[in-house]
Amino acid sequence: MTEIPEHLLKRSKAAKAKAEGGEAPADAPAAGSSSAPATVAAATPAAAAKPAAPAKPAGPPPPKPDIPVVAAAKARKRIPFWAMATLSLLPLWTFMYVRGLTFKEPKVSGPLGEGAEVYTANCSSCHGGNGEGGVGYAFSGGEVLKTFPHIEDQLRFVYAGSVAYGNAGIAVYGNPERSPLHNTLAKGQMPAQGPTAGGGLTEAQILAVVCHERYTLGGADPTADYLEEYEKWCSPEAPAWVGFEDGSITFDNVADQLEGTFVVGTKPAPGHAPDAEP
Ligand code: HEC
Repeated sequence: MTEIPEHLLKRSKAAKAKAEGGEAPADAPAAGSSSAPATVAAATPAAAAKPAAPAKPAGPPPPKPDIPVVAAAKARKRIPFWAMATLSLLPLWTFMYVRGLTFKEPKVSGPLGEGAEVYTANCSSCHGGNGEGGVGYAFSGGEVLKTFPHIEDQLRFVYAGSVAYGNAGIAVYGNPERSPLHNTLAKGQMPAQGPTAGGGLTEAQILAVVCHERYTLGGADPTADYLEEYEKWCSPEAPAWVGFEDGSITFDNVADQLEGTFVVGTKPAPGHAPDAEP
């Protein structure tokens, strides 16, 4: 607040005193000058607003005007409330967008789902991503079904590997009537996969990857010719799969546990012709 100069106050007091009929104070300057009334008129409201003035109690000070930034912020248009609801969902949308971009293989449960993963990690480098063959034989186009008309022979071969078959003097590891024959060590070495043969897969994983090779890569039809085999070994509820998973069935006892099954075992053994009976 601006200070009122002392001489103006004095002059104003003198004018007041004179108006009320009293004598002007001795030290007040002569109030006769022409500018005096205007000065008093100007000074009076200011003097009244002074807190020291006993007559009028001081009211609350007038609110300070906002500084420009605050004023601008108050004047600015707000985001409408309905837009807030939409905006608050933006992070969710981002999340869904990123999820949408990430390619996901459809999740298949049971041996075929597990088998696909085991295959990619352990077999695809030699047999091809789609079983088209490479260092090892092809599985696709029904090839694997020609070598192994019976899944038991394939399980045993994958468990033991080709070197064990060679060492055991078993020349043919699959169907002896297959043409051309797939002979032990004829093409190269098929590494053993079973735990007691030095491999890194469990019996359940071996079943899973063999199911994958037969059905997904080899083209066996689980609804027609291979329906019985599929329901016994490779469906998510197949007794063989469930038994290998919980340990109640093993490669050594599966022929006793499941009716109409060839002995699998973990040691090399000759394969069976398509029409052989267990
Ligand atoms: C290091 C390369 C290599 C890897 C890895 C490999 N295989 Fe083999 N596989 C071979 C070779 C070589 C043969 C042929 C063996 C022979 O000629 O005696 C073969 C043969 C086979 C056969 C017989 C096919 C036929 O029609 O004769 C099956 C079944 C098989 N492999 C399954 C598997 C599975 C299952 C895996 C993964 C768990 C796997 N292989 C990993 C090299 C490999």
